[in-house]
Amino acid sequence: MWSLVLFLVLGLFGSKISVEAANCTIQAKGNSKFPNDFTFGVATSAYQIEGGWNADGKGLSIWDEYTHNYPDRIKDRSNGDSSAESYRLFDLDLKALKDLGVNQYRFSIAWTRIFPIGHVHLKNQKGIDYYNSVIDKLLANGIEPIVTMYHWDMPVDLQKFGGFSNSQIVEHFSNYAEELFKLFGDRVKIWITLNEPHKICKEGYGLAESPPLIAASGVGDYICYTNLLKAHGATYRLYKEKFAKEQKGKVGISLDCRFYFSKTNNTDDIDRAMQYTLGLLAHPIFSKTGDFPAIVLKEIEKSSLEIEGRKKSRLPSLGEYWTNIIKGSADFMGVNYYTSRYVTPSTEPLGENPSMERDQNYQLDVDPNWPRANADWMYCVPEGLENLLKYIRDEYDNVEVKITENGWPDSGEINDDERINYFKSHIQAVLNAVNDGCNTTAYSAWSLIDNFEWNQGYTMKFGLFSVDMRSAKKERTPKKSALLYKKIIETKSVPDSV
Ligand code: NOJ
Repeated sequence: MWSLVLFLVLGLFGSKISVEAANCTIQAKGNSKFPNDFTFGVATSAYQIEGGWNADGKGLSIWDEYTHNYPDRIKDRSNGDSSAESYRLFDLDLKALKDLGVNQYRFSIAWTRIFPIGHVHLKNQKGIDYYNSVIDKLLANGIEPIVTMYHWDMPVDLQKFGGFSNSQIVEHFSNYAEELFKLFGDRVKIWITLNEPHKICKEGYGLAESPPLIAASGVGDYICYTNLLKAHGATYRLYKEKFAKEQKGKVGISLDCRFYFSKTNNTDDIDRAMQYTLGLLAHPIFSKTGDFPAIVLKEIEKSSLEIEGRKKSRLPSLGEYWTNIIKGSADFMGVNYYTSRYVTPSTEPLGENPSMERDQNYQLDVDPNWPRANADWMYCVPEGLENLLKYIRDEYDNVEVKITENGWPDSGEINDDERINYFKSHIQAVLNAVNDGCNTTAYSAWSLIDNFEWNQGYTMKFGLFSVDMRSAKKERTPKKSALLYKKIIETKSVPDSV
């Protein structure tokens, strides 16, 4: 049936084979099949797919407010007001999930759909009913829900008090999480507290590229990391104390990270860049010693005190109490991987003073041979994913890793050969890493359906299924990559052809 639909659709669109995409490959090493218990799925997030921005008592999030107040900041002046309308049309998503044959579905809960002003004393039953029905329908179809508690949509009423720049967020977030455990924890066994802390803090509290639009690089972003880690740690401890025994679930966090290569193969340069990126979040949670990486603490303290003349480091240690709460506060590491870079230490100070760029003080480049997508930041680098998984294996005692996002943007072609090459090479990279002893147990592709890509609006598509955003029906149409992914899930191996 699918093949017929695709045949017709491809006939209409013609077949566009990208020359560049042909380079997006990696050599297979070891077993050609994933272990039997390795699971495959897809991921989405609430603001990007749900629509229903004010339906049935939902409150306002910072993304509702931002897109309404600053339409010029979104490439096509669009927003997530209706989007793919998964709030109304979840059954279409369910059908797509079943057609793919996924083992798991990672979606996020919109905080303000359940608690319109963020505080837990004010509940919205309709929002609770919605997520209950999503979870029940998934389970009835043998699909494991992976639930992200926070995918960037902070309640406006909590942002008024500073969001992640106010340490009160620790209490608000863990209260929210506690309610989620009570409401859904009987059925949800895999939780992700926060999605992509780097994006939240760097873009929202440092570079003012996304809400809450705070321009304070080198200060605001570090305050955000600190509060966010505390919120995560407190939530994990709460689960262990009150729910784990009965509910028997796992709690993790999804970290966004690239791999950094060195042109001179200098492992110190690679490690320093990894510590300033992945390490900033991973070291406090997954290392044996906890706290921010020593090199980062030392260098930022030196700049703060000796160069800037401050009384205190812009990135202080987490302190003994919080170091102990946060250390070991995850049952697995969620990894969102898209692309990689080369790193070269700079001899001149980079960026503004202060800024994260200046603290890191390294140049980032790409290899001209890496195939590029229709996004200026996105190159196909499968070795980066393999190396990243091996780095995590060696640096964090082979912690369990679930790949919670990996995907390729384009303009929405149904005959999406570039995405096919990307998935083939990246899933092969994961298999190579598994064959090399990495404790990676799950892979979720980004994304099930085309959706609202933040500041890029609907100009950049990541879906395995296309959605006609202008039609009322919002039908989901499988792209060619959906066929490939279905085959990968069925065979637990990467086929030569679709
Ligand atoms: C990571 C984010 O979690 C997701 O929301 C976004 O759409 C993808 N990256 C693609 O940029």
